[in-house]
Parts: sequence; C-alpha cells; structure tokens
Amino acid sequence: MTFSANLNIMMKAARKAGRSLVKDFREVENLQVSMKGAGDFVSRADVAAENILKEELMGARPTYGFLGEEGTSIAGEDPTRRWIVDPLDGTTNFLHGLPHWAISIALEHKGQIVSGVIYDPAKDEMFMAEKGEGAWMNDMRIRASGRTRMIESIYATGLPFGGRADLPETLKDLSQLLPVCAGVRRWGSAALDMAYVAAGRYDGFWERRLNAWDIAAGIVIVREAGGLIQPLNPEGDIVSDGEVICANEALFDKFSKIIRRA
Ligand code: IPD
Ligand code: CA
Ligand code: CA
Ligand code: CA
Repeated sequence: MTFSANLNIMMKAARKAGRSLVKDFREVENLQVSMKGAGDFVSRADVAAENILKEELMGARPTYGFLGEEGTSIAGEDPTRRWIVDPLDGTTNFLHGLPHWAISIALEHKGQIVSGVIYDPAKDEMFMAEKGEGAWMNDMRIRASGRTRMIESIYATGLPFGGRADLPETLKDLSQLLPVCAGVRRWGSAALDMAYVAAGRYDGFWERRLNAWDIAAGIVIVREAGGLIQPLNPEGDIVSDGEVICANEALFDKFSKIIRRA
C-alpha cells in the first residue's frame, strides 16, 4: 500500500508524539495535572504531545491551519485546509495508568475530513484512512463488522462525568439499548471507540458533548471501513455539533432509531 505524502506526515507526527506520551506514561505520578472543568484534566503530557504535533504538522505544511485541544489555534494562509488534533484522547485513563488512550489527527479540506490517523502507542495500533483509499490498521485493511442482529452486537459510548447535564439523556439511551443488544462498553477514548467500529471490534458507537478533535479523524476512518457515521441530529454538522453516531451498515438504522428515539 502507498499512502499520500500528507498521511505519511500524519503518521510520523503521531509516532513522535506517541514516544513522548509513552515516556510520560511510565512516570505518570510526576506530571503536573490541572482541571479545565469538573472531571476534565490536562497534564504536562497532553501539552507536550500537542507541541510536538504542532511542530511536525506545521513544519511540513506551514500554510495549513491548526486546531488542537490544548489551546493551539492557527488560522492558516490556506483557508481551505486545517489540521484538527487531539494530542491525547483518554487523558483520564492515562492519568490512572490505564493503557487505553490515543493521538488523533485529522486533515480537513474545504469542510470535509479527507484523512485521519488514530494512534494507540500502548498497543502499537495505527488506524488510518484517506478518502477513497480504504481504512487500515497497521498494514491490514479493516472493515466495519458484518453483524446484522442487534442482540449479538456491542456498542461503545461515553458516560457524562463531573455532573454534566446530559446524564438523563445518556441514561435513557442505555435503558433502551441495553435490553436489546449484547452489551455496552465505556473504555474512555472516543477516538479509539470510532477506530474500533472501523475495525469491526464494536458494532456501533454514540456519544454526546464531544468536540471536533475527538471526532474528526474517526469520521473518515469509519466511512472508509464501510461504516456509517452521522451527526446525532440528522440536520446537524458532524464536526461542529460534537454529537455523533456510527455503526456498521446493517445495524445503523435499528441502532440509530433507538438513540434518536425516532
Ligand atoms: C475524552 C474522551 C472520552 C470522552 C470525553 C472526551 P480527552 O477526551 O474521548 O472518551 O467520553 O468526552 O472529552 O479529554 O481525554 O481528550
Ligand atoms: Ca480533555
Ligand atoms: Ca478527546
Ligand atoms: Ca485530549
């Protein structure tokens, strides 16, 4: 397989940030941690990884824009292209020594996500896709699952933390979904949740109150793996709304009817 120059730049940046995060993960007790909001943490590791991604991605493509979770916002000379980056998705897992977190990098062109990389350094799994080129995990093509029966399927989501007001909605989702499926997981990284739908590990995923950097790379990876991914509000915008639903093609309708209460 041959990837475009941009995808190679993204993979190289993800690996470099990954090395920095793995080092910090081994000495997690020495990180300075602060809270941005209730239950929403940021550490020196998140900021260091964002700086590496900024240097690598902007160094290679100085005219593109850049949006990163930890405060980097650059309006590029080229207004049509923008990197959208989550330097560490799963900070809470990371700070608790749980090896389930990732780096997420997307490239947006004229409002569409055209390339995405989600890298899990602890497992050395690099999920990636480019529009029209299929989705990959390391050197393997990946596909969304082929399951067709709700009762055999499993789903991932995020649970509202720190007293968030969307708790009743999520509890309603769970009370309607749990009786008709094989299980729901909350592993703590929205980016990996989407990568796992693309790889056929989960049959679907939904979450409210996310941000562009949590979702962007996953959009193209799920689509290129043959999955369906949409904003939770069918009239909304998938990147800016921060509310997303995705599943394999066979189950999407049944699953989305439950979550959308349609
Ligand atoms: C979080 C993770 C988590 C999701 C949260 C996100 P962060 O991202 O994706 O799974 O439930 O809503 O904020 O803050 O660890 O990058
Ligand atoms: Ca965060
Ligand atoms: Ca995130
Ligand atoms: Ca993050």
